[in-house]
Amino acid sequence: MTELAAIRGFKDILPDQARYWRLIEDRARDVSRRFNYAELRPPIMERTELFQRGLGEATDIVEKEMYTMEDRSGDRITLRPEATAGMVRALIEHNLHEGGRPVRLFCLGPMFRYERPQKGRLRQFHQLDVEVFGDSGPTIDAEVIMWLHTFLKELGLIELTVVLNSLGCPACRPRFREKLVDFLADHQKTLCQDCNRRLTQNPLRVLDCKSPSCQAIVSKGPVLSEFLCPECRQHFLGVRQALDSLGVIYTLNDKLVRGLDYYTRTTFEVHSGNLGSQNAVAGGGRYDGLCARLGGPDIPAIGFAAGLERLILLLSEKYAATEPGPDYYAAVLCPEATGPAFTLVQHLRAMGHMVAADWEPGGLKSRLKRADKAGAAKVIMFGPDELAAGEVTVRDLSTGDQWRLPINRPERF
Ligand code: HAM
Repeated sequence: MTELAAIRGFKDILPDQARYWRLIEDRARDVSRRFNYAELRPPIMERTELFQRGLGEATDIVEKEMYTMEDRSGDRITLRPEATAGMVRALIEHNLHEGGRPVRLFCLGPMFRYERPQKGRLRQFHQLDVEVFGDSGPTIDAEVIMWLHTFLKELGLIELTVVLNSLGCPACRPRFREKLVDFLADHQKTLCQDCNRRLTQNPLRVLDCKSPSCQAIVSKGPVLSEFLCPECRQHFLGVRQALDSLGVIYTLNDKLVRGLDYYTRTTFEVHSGNLGSQNAVAGGGRYDGLCARLGGPDIPAIGFAAGLERLILLLSEKYAATEPGPDYYAAVLCPEATGPAFTLVQHLRAMGHMVAADWEPGGLKSRLKRADKAGAAKVIMFGPDELAAGEVTVRDLSTGDQWRLPINRPERF
């Protein structure tokens, strides 16, 4: 099956993983409910231009990672590489911001990036995306970080590090950028090839380059936090004070610039020590200019996205994903029993019992084996003797006790 195997970086999520997915999605919905965030499900394809304008032409995603195609009418469309741009588009298109109150939203779903697949990095991956529109104050930044913190804590993922930074705003960042470019230009020869390119297009990204030689240069360069204007400084202090008031532990890292162009002020990531090089479990920040850049009103916004596959890698190290087995396994032991067994099983399922069944008749030994394999608590045996008496035998597989029940009285099960 190599010829028609799944595409590289696109993975089947098999039934033995389903429990983890449900666990995460259920938890996400529950935290959303308590924080009062509503679900919005944007489509997975958008106009290519939305991402080009939204994420920035000079980002890795737009430059080399998007799945873009022409549809049959010649329009350029792209499989979403992230959710934020689509959420903003939906907010503007449906005027969700009208009414004055901040709009709190979340979405869950697949994203697509043409990256080199490795542990924790896929080409189709899934995100939980959380966004708030219409509040520029620091407390909402802390609320969004608390959303993520609560979610991770309730999944049992507590050995994670929250990294926090402020990227400043259009009033103060250009000054830093200028100083940084001047400084880096003097070290151009020692910078890696990627950073040489970034130097002209997206110099801030040099700050979080993983190459040791670039890191060594950057460590001697200008420091972003020293360039923040008084308003950005005050805002960042407010975020930190709100987090401190709840005892949230975070580390400050003023090299955390993130890979997307839309960020302003607060940025944050959550890292794990157990994921190898793809160690970011979640990342986000404030993006006050994006709504206006995409043709909408000038609405401040903040959000984050968490990578579900990475969360599952961490969860699967902690506990096994065993699904609860069925309440009953229906063992059809003779051909005449199939019909009556089908009827009883339907009644039991309608009443809420979880029932596994195989319709083709078989011997008792083989059916007991199947019941055991399915992890059933009890077996219902439909044999010729039982049928003749209008009954079935029920056996409790853990105790070995068995008893008879009338076949037409599902309520007694
Ligand atoms: P991002 O940092 O590009 O941010 O992605 C967020 C998370 O998605 C990452 O921390 C990682 O867990 C996961 N992720 C990213 N790429 C992959 C991949 N190829 N395979 C597996 N997991 C991956 C954003 O996407 C922003 N839209 C977040 C945001 C929302 N900012 C504001 N609002």
